[in-house]
Amino acid sequence: MNNVLVLNGPNLGRLGSREPDVYGDQDLPALRKLLEAESPSGTSIDLRQTDDEGTLIGWLHEAVDTATPVILNPAAFTHYSYGLRDAAALVTKAGIPLVEVHISNPHAREEFRHTSVISGIATGVIAGFGFDSYLLALGAIARIKS
Ligand code: DQA
Repeated sequence: MNNVLVLNGPNLGRLGSREPDVYGDQDLPALRKLLEAESPSGTSIDLRQTDDEGTLIGWLHEAVDTATPVILNPAAFTHYSYGLRDAAALVTKAGIPLVEVHISNPHAREEFRHTSVISGIATGVIAGFGFDSYLLALGAIARIKS
């Protein structure tokens, strides 16, 4: 069984009630269900969320140690966390795919969201398609692996 880590940063645990005009009205359990339903056979989805930077970094170390591909929505950490960037670089430098995803399109929003310190070391970036951003990332990872 192949595993894909789907890691979500701060405030994404509030999806469903958080700014539904921006992020939609579905929550993380709904995202997990969607990814599980659409994942290629033999692929398991390990979806996690934390508001804590250190926890997120630890999960990226785990991805390196277990050679597990990552779909990462770094949320607000996207815009300023060099610690998270360095941990994400460990993943891609090890030859493991890491796709940065965003539900919204940060480039169409406030200026501080136009900078991502993660994109430069990510395998690829998908933004602006709602929960479909994660599905597209899952498809990209499946294509890389096959
Ligand atoms: C986000 C975009 C970020 O700017 C924001 O801080 C988030 C969510 C997105 O998925 O659109 O928390 O990563």
